[in-house]
Amino acid sequence: MSPMRVLSVTSEIYPTVKTGGLADVAGALPIALKAEGIEVRSLVPGYPAVMKALAEVSEICSLPNFFGGNARLVGGSHGELDLFVLDAPHLYAREGNPYVGADGKDWPDNAFRFAALARAAFYIGLGTVPGFVPDVVHGHDWQAGLMPAYLLYSHQPHPVTVMTVHNMAFQGRFPRELLGPLGLPPESFSIYGVEYYGDISFLKAGIQFADRITTVSPTYAIEIQSDDYGMGLAGLLRQRASDLSGILNGIDTAVWDPANDAAIASPYGVDCLELRAPNKAALQQRMGLRASPDAFLLGVVSRLSWQKGLDLLLTCLPTFASGGMQLALLGDGDADLRDGFSAAAAADPGHIGVVTGYDEKLAHLIQAGCDALVVPSRFEPCGLTQLCALRYGAIPIVAGVGGLADTVRDESEAGSDATGFTFSPVTAENLDHAIRRAAAAFFASRSNASNWPRMQLNGMLTDVSWRHRAGRYAELYRSLLAQRGG
Ligand code: ADP
Ligand code: GLC
Repeated sequence: MSPMRVLSVTSEIYPTVKTGGLADVAGALPIALKAEGIEVRSLVPGYPAVMKALAEVSEICSLPNFFGGNARLVGGSHGELDLFVLDAPHLYAREGNPYVGADGKDWPDNAFRFAALARAAFYIGLGTVPGFVPDVVHGHDWQAGLMPAYLLYSHQPHPVTVMTVHNMAFQGRFPRELLGPLGLPPESFSIYGVEYYGDISFLKAGIQFADRITTVSPTYAIEIQSDDYGMGLAGLLRQRASDLSGILNGIDTAVWDPANDAAIASPYGVDCLELRAPNKAALQQRMGLRASPDAFLLGVVSRLSWQKGLDLLLTCLPTFASGGMQLALLGDGDADLRDGFSAAAAADPGHIGVVTGYDEKLAHLIQAGCDALVVPSRFEPCGLTQLCALRYGAIPIVAGVGGLADTVRDESEAGSDATGFTFSPVTAENLDHAIRRAAAAFFASRSNASNWPRMQLNGMLTDVSWRHRAGRYAELYRSLLAQRGG
């Protein structure tokens, strides 16, 4: 019997193009699925970085006049990833961020850029590539949202489809005038189709038409069925509840391995935790913080956006110095948050260190050097940084929402099984209280009167890899195919 074939459709993929956790997942899950005996190929847009990284390139077919220009589908690989690349220079030959131009605004042709991705997936789904006819097409986020719609409206036999929602906040909403140019039939513009408050929504299309919908944690799967978290699509998600489930993300434990990490000052592990200390010193130096082994050093690695709740952390900063606390923050995003943290650092450089921008190496050093990682998100589909923190012996202090609630066990509730601190509802007061609880436990650990080292070990011994989690996707694919009788 030939192995199951899965086409993964994604607009970003680690290590080539990344704006957030989606890239990490899209880069690691296919490799983990290979271990399950599944043949996975990923379809990605041919951004310059992808074209440059591609090895063993072979042309599969040309796509003349494809959304406004000539394109081609090529095959190739990058490391362990087997790729299909949609080489469409008129859509993707632009340096920088995959979604926004240098002016910070969405590319004006994003509807076509990502409809093209979904359309290429549709062609592969219908068997365009000899030797790789997928059994399952698995799309990620709104950028792949039209894929199930194209397959369904073709009225041809096609693979089963799965849509994974990594974030309900990004929906891919475009004017109705684009219906024809996007190749969608008139009947698709209905409440039972791609229509969303008078516009076209790519995410809605995916949720409406995929055979199964997953999201990246069990709690977020429940939350998004409520009006508070469903971002306008809760009703549809409730209707589709029996086809909706949450599968927790993992992280690539080869990339995130404190015992073998070239980006940190001193490798360490559960049996040599004392070797973690030089990383704290290196981090303090790197961030311009006062050298102090005894300070309670909090870390943040994050997009700076409303979702991440870091405005709440800003309000807690004035008391850091008197509380023996320091902050090392790495982040990029909203200008007001960037300015707010930069001003706080300028006012108190010994205690507050801020680097704005994207810096993979520094992200690793923060995980290895901070005592606790703060993730005060207002909502969090899964979150990966708290998983990295667990693996690196940094205690997570997290909002009790979404995947954060599913992956961190609170100190006051879980006793000797605890891995961190959680708080809810998500307010500045509750965050401040959680930080203070954590600080008390950290300072008490000097007199051996604290659970702190135990929590560090619990975290480091938690399985945050993809191993079992990929198995859940494999089960899902199998159950879908069995249902279809394939
Ligand atoms: P989201 O996808 O919502 O941004 P996740 O926690 O799922 O949040 O994933 C974020 C990923 O991006 C993690 O791998 C994290 O280490 C990384 N990251 C976020 N901000 C930065 C940054 N400024 N520099 C380097 N890596 C970052
Ligand atoms: C999104 C979510 C984040 C999740 C990531 C990967 O960006 O905001 O919570 O971990 O996708 O699934």
